[in-house]
Amino acid sequence: MAGVIKTVGVIGTGTIGSSWTGLFLSKGLKVLVSDPAPGAEKLLTEHLERFWPVLEEIGLAPGASLKNCQFVGASMEKHLGEVDFIQENAPEKPEIKNKLIGEIDAGARPEVIIASSSSGIPSSQFISQCKKHPERVLIGHPFNPPHLMPLVEVVPHPGTSKEATDKAIEIYASLGKAPVLVKKEIPGHAANRLQAALMQEAYSLVGNDVLSAKDLDACITTSLGPRWALVGPYMSLVSGGGGGRGGFKHMMHHIGPAAQGWLKDMAERNLPFDEDLITKMDKSVQEELNEFDPTVVEKQRDEALVKLVKLKHEKGASMLV
Ligand SMILES: NC(=O)c1ccc[n+]([C@@H]2O[C@H](COP(=O)([O-])OP(=O)(O)OC[C@H]3O[C@@H](n4cnc5c(N)ncnc54)[C@H](O)[C@@H]3O)[C@@H](O)[C@H]2O)c1
Repeated sequence: MAGVIKTVGVIGTGTIGSSWTGLFLSKGLKVLVSDPAPGAEKLLTEHLERFWPVLEEIGLAPGASLKNCQFVGASMEKHLGEVDFIQENAPEKPEIKNKLIGEIDAGARPEVIIASSSSGIPSSQFISQCKKHPERVLIGHPFNPPHLMPLVEVVPHPGTSKEATDKAIEIYASLGKAPVLVKKEIPGHAANRLQAALMQEAYSLVGNDVLSAKDLDACITTSLGPRWALVGPYMSLVSGGGGGRGGFKHMMHHIGPAAQGWLKDMAERNLPFDEDLITKMDKSVQEELNEFDPTVVEKQRDEALVKLVKLKHEKGASMLV
């Protein structure tokens, strides 16, 4: 599939579009980029120069070069016939995406997939101006930054063809990403919903003064974080239940009922998400910041993340991507 895609169109080159551009370039593809903001080309160049050493460390495909990037200006319109795949990364506003996707659909070849990075707007809400082939529009939602994070959530709208969905999954997989199929449109897709569920309890634990923000962060970075980077929650339950085909059900019967009790208690202790809660949590976060410099933390995180992504890339499916 990688051979089928030679030129990618990246629409919008902010945080996500520039990172996607880096990823596509590192895979040896030609990338055409458009963005109407003044100074967008300069900003893109700066982002790419920052990403490139990291992408080199992860490993470049033959022919990969920053020279394969062409900024085409405010609009992709004149170049739509040249692209084999579109990744749209314009602001998260339905009216902008609706107009853009209509224009892209009018100019791109019929077989070209139009994937939107949208974090929350289902694509069924921005295809009303697609007069030609709305069945090739879908969500290809990355986790930030897409040049490092493997996940892409592929979410079809009710009218997306199975062929387009399958093709998008194949394309992302051929680019070294870890695509998952979110079968139905649902607010926040899957990964952000999981994050929101966990954060709800994190807000409650710190807001109810059960533990500090620093200790809550440590609970994740020293337990669930490292485990889930390697083995997902369902597979962890299989192991926790003794492994094998019976492991999951055993764990459900063993720990499941107790966890249902915790969930009831958690629902009762949930605090209203208001300024009082935010102020209380911020006090605890500020204490954490007395000990940790966020700039240093981010640098260390990114260095370690590159090693982890590289390891997962080398081990492939045996590390459950
Ligand atoms: N930031 C994240 O963590 C994150 C993660 C995953 C997905 N996303 C999604 O990616 C998309 C882009 O988000 P972002 O964080 O990169 O936003 P951003 O504000 O950093 O970038 C948006 C870019 O779109 C450009 N733009 C504005 N109007 C445009 C138009 N008509 N055509 C083309 N480009 C236009 C802007 O100039 C800007 O450079 C959103 O749909 C967002 O939900 C964001």
